[in-house]
Amino acid sequence: MNYVERIKEFYAAHPVMDFYTDRAVEREVVGLLNYDESAIQPYKVSSPLEKEDGTKVASVAEWEQSRRSKIIELFKKELYGEVPPMPDQVEYKEISCKKDALNGKAVRKEIDMVFTMKNGKTHTVPVLIYLPAGATGKVPVFLNLNFKGNHTITNEKDVRMSGLLNDDKSFLSAEQRSCHAERNSIEMVIARGYACCTASYNDFFPDHIDGWCDSIYALFGDYENYSRGHEKYSSIGAWAWGMSRLMDYVEQSEELDSSRVALHGHSRLGKSVLWAGALDERFKIVISNNSGLAGAAMTKRCFGELYIYLVTAMPHWFVKNTARYIANEEAQVFDQHFLLSLIAPRKLVVASAENDLWSDPYGEYLGTYHAGEVYSLYGADVLKTPLRQAVGTVITSDISYHIRPGKHAQNGIDWLHYLDIADKYL
Ligand code: GCU
Repeated sequence: MNYVERIKEFYAAHPVMDFYTDRAVEREVVGLLNYDESAIQPYKVSSPLEKEDGTKVASVAEWEQSRRSKIIELFKKELYGEVPPMPDQVEYKEISCKKDALNGKAVRKEIDMVFTMKNGKTHTVPVLIYLPAGATGKVPVFLNLNFKGNHTITNEKDVRMSGLLNDDKSFLSAEQRSCHAERNSIEMVIARGYACCTASYNDFFPDHIDGWCDSIYALFGDYENYSRGHEKYSSIGAWAWGMSRLMDYVEQSEELDSSRVALHGHSRLGKSVLWAGALDERFKIVISNNSGLAGAAMTKRCFGELYIYLVTAMPHWFVKNTARYIANEEAQVFDQHFLLSLIAPRKLVVASAENDLWSDPYGEYLGTYHAGEVYSLYGADVLKTPLRQAVGTVITSDISYHIRPGKHAQNGIDWLHYLDIADKYL
């Protein structure tokens, strides 16, 4: 029996699993996953250009006018859900402005983004912005959602704590300040002339199975006792929506240039940026760092993390439909290169880390490679070969890719490439 068959058998015997109450079953699932390239079973790579009738899209016009939207519908239904509605009103309230931030190198702003509904419901998201000091004219922006709060991505200790809706309050301690500073590398970004605009993903959807009632979805419906997966919506959908709401802020700002925005995200947020970048064409560069399964990696390779883990561990990240692909990946009519293709012809950047096998680095490369079919329709430069890339490879083009040594992270090495890409294309 190969490992795929073993997983099918295990799932048939455990159709209902709960990692929250049964850690032993979680360990068993992790033990079933495969990290051996030679054990991978043959799988079919479908073409995003192939229509339901079997013929292929032949022009950009046909792609944009019909096929592209069909693929978006597919991802809504099978993975990430519907796009949440817009609140009745959005206000931006300036909370602070520090003119001599980062030792005089930056201007720092803290904003409250306040969503209000006619029925009186409100939801507030704290936003943090750094602008290069002395900038003349509107500046290009690196935009993202962060994990543990705005206070964790800066070395400045007087930034207010955010991400308060998270159930894990350990993020809100003095020791957690600046723990994720390298993920945003603000000093590097500012030194190269870019602004940074960020908010915590927990302030759009607190990342746990019962996060619904404190999420933006509560503006639009009753989620008081809601838990886990939903028919129509997902937390990834809420995070992608949040990225677009930050973009709305950039659009009305007099200091930030909304025509030059690079969206970036790591891991689960690397998955979310791909969905946000697919839906919102205002993002000119979409950077997906170590995004793995349901991100840039090819699902049907079944290498590293699989749905049997992801959808059981994080049911709120996806719509309920996704569960039907657990131990049944081959039933998908799409794979993740379809998602990456939706970003064409805008710049796509995918980054892997050598030791991040959970995320399947080679699968991330192949997803990026296969997206080239749609990019080629636009005459864009694409990845030239499906062969595995040597660690240290850095490709800067319409489709960029790198694989650096080391573990699952977004660090200064990744930033060197992202800033070069931005210098070239923004
Ligand atoms: C978990 C999850 C991954 C995800 C990662 C992260 O490991 O299984 O799919 O990418 O968390 O977001 O850090």
